[in-house]
Amino acid sequence: MRWASAGRHDEGDGQVLHDVEAVVLVGGQGTRLRPLTLSAPKPMLPTAGVPFLAHLLSRIRAAGVRRVVLGTSYLAETFEKHFGDGAALGLDLTYVVEDEPLGTGGGIRNVAGHLTADDVLVFNGDVLCGTDLRAVVATHRDTQADVTLHLVRVPDPRAYGCVPTDPDGRVLEFLEKTPDPPTDQINAGCYVFRRAVIDAIPAGRAVSVERETFPGLLAAGSRISGHVDDAYWRDMGTPADLVQGSADLVRGIAPSDALPGPTGDALRLAGAEVAADAHVAGGTVVGVDAQVGTGARVVGSMLFDGAVVGAGATIENSVVGAGARVGAGASVVDTVVGDRAVVGEACELRGGMRIWPDVVLPAGGVRFSPDV
Ligand code: GDD
Ligand code: MG
Repeated sequence: MRWASAGRHDEGDGQVLHDVEAVVLVGGQGTRLRPLTLSAPKPMLPTAGVPFLAHLLSRIRAAGVRRVVLGTSYLAETFEKHFGDGAALGLDLTYVVEDEPLGTGGGIRNVAGHLTADDVLVFNGDVLCGTDLRAVVATHRDTQADVTLHLVRVPDPRAYGCVPTDPDGRVLEFLEKTPDPPTDQINAGCYVFRRAVIDAIPAGRAVSVERETFPGLLAAGSRISGHVDDAYWRDMGTPADLVQGSADLVRGIAPSDALPGPTGDALRLAGAEVAADAHVAGGTVVGVDAQVGTGARVVGSMLFDGAVVGAGATIENSVVGAGARVGAGASVVDTVVGDRAVVGEACELRGGMRIWPDVVLPAGGVRFSPDV
């Protein structure tokens, strides 16, 4: 895959952040996305036609960064197999594997020997975001910070790191997943680190940057700056967010230079077959060789490669895994259907159901839903 340097979201001359390197943390197990993450790490899940990570890498490249180090652990080999040395993307990619997961801080420390720049952009590898990375780096440099955090406001901050700041943008506290957050301002999962701060993280053991490194730096009087904006932002860690993020990419609501083809209301990949009277919309992706039968309705959903949706079936805000089959007249809403699973004719699935790979649900109008 290759994308143009002057893509629709390109951020200028591409030179600006040449003196910055990037680290992307991709070692998590993606537990909340099971069963999809049993066979692929979260950043490799097909999202708007390409692995999610391709979208993030396209943003990094558009900002002018060229060297990217990936901190891998879970299913580590899958990343290099797909992205190689990064040349096709205009990037220089390095892969560093943790034998035992070292956590977010340990993952950053573990790649220190591969970094040469003084300012390092660090990304959680599961965040879809439209922030202006040059502006985040500018805040870091203007405030002479030790670390700068990108911050966004969300309706429910409890699932994230809550980060209050003072009027000068100085971070006051870092409260990871607190039940009673004092502000709706949260850690967006993108940081600028001074190189020396990375070197000071203890090596060779698991470290949480959120629970140990940031609170420790604050206690020691280090300058941690917050860069707040209202850019598009979504953590792709749950099925609902994955589906919504993918649909937002397809509809052009979320920025990326890595989309594989013309988009709009839907994205149809090579070999996809959609019946003329089927309704496919809301940012749906129809994967390679996937099929949508006559009269079917597929809205805001992800049909992975080779998935089959039968005649008159309804799929809403759901994932249908690779090679999975949904029978005629079935209804699949807010559900994950694992790879190769079969949902029998006229079944009704909804409310966060997850069907494991290869499971066969019999036909006959059985209703599987937590609320019945
Ligand atoms: N290399 C490596 N090693 N990476 C890891 C490890 C590890 O042991 N554990 C997690 N990661 C990676 C994940 O792959 C992911 O890209 C990133 O670190 C964050 O992990 P998540 O598991 O997605 O964390 P979260 O979403 O619950 O919370 C984090 O992100 C929020 C924003 O999306 C925290 O940083 C929160 O403070 C933040 O608000
Ligand atoms: Mg996450």
